[in-house]
Amino acid sequence: MCGIVAYVGHREACPIIIKGLKRLEYRGYDSAGIALMNGTLSVYKKKGKVSELEAFLQDKDVHSNIGMGHTRWATHGEPNDVNAHPHFSTSKKIAIIHNGIIENYAALKTLLISKGHTFKSETDSEVFINLIEDIRENNHCTLAEAVRLALHEVVGAYAIVVLSKDDPHQLVAARKGSPLVLGIGKGEYFLASDATPIIEYTNDVVYLKDYELAVIKNGELDIRSREDVKQTPYVQRLEMALESIEKGGYEHFMLKEIFEQPRSILDSMRGRMISASNHLMMSGIREFENKFVNAERILIVACGTSWHAGLVAEYLIEDFARIPVEVEYASEFRYRNPIIRETDIVIAISQSGETADTLAAIELAKSKGATIFGICNVVGSSIARTTDAGAYTHAGPEIGVASTKAFTAQVTVLTLIAMIIGSKRGTLETSKLHGLMAELENIPAKVERALKLDQQIQEIAEKFKNATNFIYLGRGYNYPVALEGALKLKEISYIHAEGYPAAEMKHGPIALIDEQMPVVVIATKDGSYEKIVSNIQEVRARKGKVIAIVTEGDTTIPAMSDFVIEIPETSEHLAPLLSVIPLQLLSYHIAVLRGCNVDQPRNLAKSVTVE
Ligand code: M6R
Repeated sequence: MCGIVAYVGHREACPIIIKGLKRLEYRGYDSAGIALMNGTLSVYKKKGKVSELEAFLQDKDVHSNIGMGHTRWATHGEPNDVNAHPHFSTSKKIAIIHNGIIENYAALKTLLISKGHTFKSETDSEVFINLIEDIRENNHCTLAEAVRLALHEVVGAYAIVVLSKDDPHQLVAARKGSPLVLGIGKGEYFLASDATPIIEYTNDVVYLKDYELAVIKNGELDIRSREDVKQTPYVQRLEMALESIEKGGYEHFMLKEIFEQPRSILDSMRGRMISASNHLMMSGIREFENKFVNAERILIVACGTSWHAGLVAEYLIEDFARIPVEVEYASEFRYRNPIIRETDIVIAISQSGETADTLAAIELAKSKGATIFGICNVVGSSIARTTDAGAYTHAGPEIGVASTKAFTAQVTVLTLIAMIIGSKRGTLETSKLHGLMAELENIPAKVERALKLDQQIQEIAEKFKNATNFIYLGRGYNYPVALEGALKLKEISYIHAEGYPAAEMKHGPIALIDEQMPVVVIATKDGSYEKIVSNIQEVRARKGKVIAIVTEGDTTIPAMSDFVIEIPETSEHLAPLLSVIPLQLLSYHIAVLRGCNVDQPRNLAKSVTVE
C-alpha cells in the first residue's frame, strides 16, 4: 500500500511525479504529497486525492529537476495533511517518503524524543527520517551512510526515498519487503512502487532487492547491500505497453479490465495450450514435474479474489489429478501452526505478487521445506521472485482495485495446471482432457458473448441499486463464483453481500430472506442443476427476489426467477470463467449508479502490503 515516485534528471520533476502518483493511486489515495528541491527543500502535501495536491500546487514554485512524491493508504495516523508524506526530520534538512510499516517505531520514537527530536505526525515514517538524522549527526557521516546504518535499526517493511537539502542532486532509496523499481533513462533516473510511472520514459528497469540501497548522485547510480557491499544491478527490459495502463476510452479501469477478459484469458493460455495439436505445456511445471506428479498434498495460499481462484483450483485439481488440496487464507495459515511437509507443494496465488500475508505464508512454508509455486500477474513482483517456480498469468496491468481479469486469468492458469498434472498422473482420461482443451480454447469467444449482456445487466442494476443486502448462491464450481460476486459487490458498492454454497442456505442464512432480499443464484447446467432448482424454490417460497444466471436455452429456472441472465453453455469445470462475468458487471453498474468511486473504493488499496 502507498505509492512512491521519485525523479532526478534533466526534465521538470513535478509533472513526472504527479502523473506517476496518479498511476499509483490504486495503491492508496487518502492523501498525497511531494518534495522538490527548488533552492531549498520544499514539501507540499494534502489530504485527499492526487488531483487535490495538483490543484494545491497551482500557485507554487515547483521548478525542479529532482523530487519525490507519495500517495498514502493510512496505517499509523488518520488521513490528514500532517500525516501525509513526505515527512521532514526535526531539522527539516532531510525528508522521506515511505511505503510499509516500521514495527519498532514506538520504541525508536521514545528514544529519539529523549534525544531532542520532535514529531508533528503520528506516523512511523517520521520516526524513520529522524532516526536517519540522528545517525547522521552522531556519526558525522554522509546521508547514504546514515540511511544504510538506519536499515539495521528498523524492523518491518519499507520502500523509502530520502532527499537532503545539503545534497541537492542526490536521491537515496532502499527497500525491504515493499516493492521499489528503478528506471534508468538517458541521464535520468526514476524510482517507483511499480513500473507504471516509469515506462513512458524508459523500459530499462532494476528491481531493487531486499536490504539494497540505491544512491543516485550527480548522474551516477550506486547500489549497495545493507552491509555496504557494492552490487551489480540486473537491468531488465520491460515489455509493457503504455496503452495497457491507460483507460482507453472506458469510464473506469474496472470496466476496461472486465472487457479485456477475452484477450487476457487468451494471453494466459498462449504458448501453453494448442488443442488442435494436443499441446499442453507450462515451463514452470515442467521444471518440477516429478514433484507435482508425486505430490501427496497441495496447499494453496492466497487472499481475497485470489483465494476464490484457489477454491476453484481445489475442485479442479482434486477432480483431474486426484491429489488432496487444501485452500488456506494466507493471513490465517501463518498463525495457526499448520502441518507442512517437505513433500507438500504450496501454490501461492497473487495478482500483485506483493500481498504481505501471502508472502509471510510462503516464508513459513519455505522454512518447512515445502516446494513453492507462485501464480502472479505482476512480473518481477516479490512473490514471483521468492518462489521456487511459477507461472505468470499474463493478464496485463490490473489497475481497478476490484480484481476482475486477474481472477479469470488465475483460473485459466490453474485449469491448465490441473489438466497437466491430471494427464501426467493418468487420472484424467485422454478423451476428457482433449474435450476440455477444445472447450477452454472456446472460452474467450464465449466471454465475448457474455459481455454483450452488459446493457441487460445495467437494467437489472437499476432495479437493485438501493438494496441494502444481497445473497449470492452457487454450488460446485459456481460456489467460489458466488463468493467472488459477493466480494465484488461489497467492495465497490458498499452493499452488504454474502456468498454461500446454495445448500448451506437452509442452515442459517435462509432466515434473512424476505421480499426485500435480492438473491443472485448461479444456476448453470451442471451436475447439481436439479439441486439448485430446489434451492431457488426455497428462496421463492420466502418471497426473495431471484436473479438467476443460467445456461442459454434453459426454460425451467427462468420460469421461477424474477430476472434471468443467460450465459453460453460450457463444461461445468470451466463454468467460473463465464459465470463470473455477469457478476462483475452487476457490481460495476450498481456501484456506478450509487455514485461510488469504482476504481478506488473507500478504505481499500490494490496491493495489501501490510499484515
Ligand atoms: O494481489 P493479490 O491477488 O494478492 O490480492 C489479494 C486481495 O487483496 C485482492 O484479491 C482483493 O481481495 C481485491 N480487492 C478483490 O477484488
